[in-house]
Amino acid sequence: MTEKSTEATSGEPAAAEDAAWQAVLARRSSAAAPLERSSLHDLYGPLCDAGRNGTFAVGHLAQSLDGRIATNSGVSRWISGSADLLHTHRMRALVDAVIVGVNTVLHDDPQLTVRRCEGANPVRVIIDPERRLDGSQRVFTDGAAPTLLLTAADGARKDKMLGNAGIVPVPRSGPALDPHEIRRILAQRGLHRLLIEGGGITVSRFLAAGALDRLQITVAPLILGSGRPSLLLPEITDLCRGLRPRTRRFELGEDIMIECDFSE
Ligand SMILES: NC(=O)c1ccc[n+]([C@@H]2O[C@H](COP(=O)([O-])OP(=O)(O)OC[C@H]3O[C@@H](n4cnc5c(N)ncnc54)[C@H](OP(=O)(O)O)[C@@H]3O)[C@@H](O)[C@H]2O)c1
Repeated sequence: MTEKSTEATSGEPAAAEDAAWQAVLARRSSAAAPLERSSLHDLYGPLCDAGRNGTFAVGHLAQSLDGRIATNSGVSRWISGSADLLHTHRMRALVDAVIVGVNTVLHDDPQLTVRRCEGANPVRVIIDPERRLDGSQRVFTDGAAPTLLLTAADGARKDKMLGNAGIVPVPRSGPALDPHEIRRILAQRGLHRLLIEGGGITVSRFLAAGALDRLQITVAPLILGSGRPSLLLPEITDLCRGLRPRTRRFELGEDIMIECDFSE
């Protein structure tokens, strides 16, 4: 009996889905572990193998049909359904670190741990260049997983910890912290496989910098008509300058997840 059992979402019997997830976790650890054909293996197999010999970054956002990830007041629980939430926890279990921006921590006070399936918690990485967080949020106090706080290297405060989190200064590139530099600094700490879990600003900065290998957008059959935007990139005036990556599509309950592949 495993400590955390997997919820069934694939339409296969729960025991078969559990076994498939165990095989995915084994494959994450070893390229020699076999992956048989199943819906879980189709989705997660390429992600297990990606980044085995280098760094790998995948973004994920859940958005409404009209491209919103939260209300204007910051309410986002939940845009997508339980299958996408389980998917998010599975993605956490497959990476070394999960990254979110400061607004997400302020609004959601997330744990960023693996709770809906079996798997180890990733290191939690919070991007807060201006030191807006005060250390009272759960990622700084619950001790559930190691936590890093990325701040601007030119900031005035030079302390080394905020709660349980180690503070890591990152050089700016213009007003923002350079996502490539973030990847390099995390790789130096052994964090090679990264999940950028939100919000829209954080994922957009990685995408705009060309620092995402894959991007997963889960679209829920929901129209908000207002709210915080999903992706925001520099304006284009010509449609041919839009990004048109290779994609894979998966049904997650009532939602559709489209995974964009930006790798060469
Ligand atoms: N539906 C979903 O999938 C989903 C997922 C996560 C969160 N959310 C929701 O989304 C909302 C928050 O999203 P958001 O887009 O407003 O904000 P966010 O991405 O959570 O945080 C953005 C902030 O993080 C800092 N930051 C991130 N990347 C940076 C970089 N490369 N360089 C410098 N600073 C960087 C900046 O802080 P400063 O402003 O201090 O410079 C930036 O304004 C919340 O309501 C949350 O509930 C939804």
